[in-house]
Amino acid sequence: MSEIRANITAVGMYVPEKRVTNHDLSRVLDTSDAWIRSRTGISERRIAGKDQANSDLSVRAIQDALEGTPHRPEDIDLIIVTTVTPDMMFPSTACRIQEKIGAANAWGFDLSGACSGFLFGLSTAAQFIRTGTHKKVLVVGTDVMSSIIDFEDRATCVLFGDGAGAVLLEPTEEEEVGILDSTLGCDGSGGKFLFMPAGGSHRPASHETVDKRMHYVHQDGRNVFKFAVRVMCDTSVGLLQRNGIPTDQLSLFVPHQANMRIIKSSMSRLKLAEDQVAVNIDRYANTTAATIPTCLAEAHRQGRLKKRDKVLMVSFGAGFTWGGILLGWGMDPP
Ligand code: ACO
Repeated sequence: MSEIRANITAVGMYVPEKRVTNHDLSRVLDTSDAWIRSRTGISERRIAGKDQANSDLSVRAIQDALEGTPHRPEDIDLIIVTTVTPDMMFPSTACRIQEKIGAANAWGFDLSGACSGFLFGLSTAAQFIRTGTHKKVLVVGTDVMSSIIDFEDRATCVLFGDGAGAVLLEPTEEEEVGILDSTLGCDGSGGKFLFMPAGGSHRPASHETVDKRMHYVHQDGRNVFKFAVRVMCDTSVGLLQRNGIPTDQLSLFVPHQANMRIIKSSMSRLKLAEDQVAVNIDRYANTTAATIPTCLAEAHRQGRLKKRDKVLMVSFGAGFTWGGILLGWGMDPP
């Protein structure tokens, strides 16, 4: 009997209209376009408008994914929203999205995996598909990082942007199509290098936490960088070897977009050519859970992927967390 796998059958994205360039930041901060570009590969990022919450970005990404497909919101069984910047602590952003898109037959929940969130969400969704209990699952990778970054801290605020990406997963039994393999991990001892100190039950919001700017991203960039370089390479090599796939047979490598130097180190270790790698950090910066699905949406739209192409997605993030998913692409080019 052939195996049921989860296959991506629709993909979409949304980034806010407002562009903030490195030059814009250099007018209000002690930084420069040259520093940001050379240390990170970022040229500009998108920032959500005052009236745009996470669910608003997510709804646009879902609508983009479903447009032109036969699928309607009422057909969706489950919505998994991966984010560290939900609309509010509760109810979940998944519930807010469910209502906004009119997914009357769906249940849903939020999943927190920071920059690995989308891959954690995809893996979770795949289990619901494999068991046969769910036929249409939306996974949204979405973050409004501008809501939790300190625009007075030049070491972090230049790195992030806002955006959302969404995919629809459906079952398939076709050979070499769908999620073929995955590896996921976390190491809580890395938590101290990248976190938001207050606002949860550990340190509830108070005048003191606000005065001390504890509701923003705090990061030890060098330690995160070292961890990222190692885990991105090890995860990629491990998955490719385990599946007997030489890197020249990889159609697209989709790394989490946190720093172009981290991406380049994976490219050099894996000996990947530029046309095998998805990059959007230059235009959107680090959109946390949205980096991988927005890269997928762009690659699909640009016709870079055809059915059965091998796609490797790899991430790392706060936690520390990491993940890798090997896919057989399941759609024809648009
Ligand atoms: N403009 C100008 N100078 C700056 C800026 C800036 N925006 N930011 C820092 N500097 C300065 C520092 O103050 C420091 O000055 P000093 O030497 O006088 O002390 C100097 O530049 C070098 O700072 P470093 O931190 O050593 O710079 P580095 O080359 O390590 O780059 C960076 C910093 C870009 C943050 C890098 O460490 C990095 O990308 N780390 C990984 C970040 C990451 O991947 N985060 C993951 C987020 S994922 C998630 O889960 C949310």
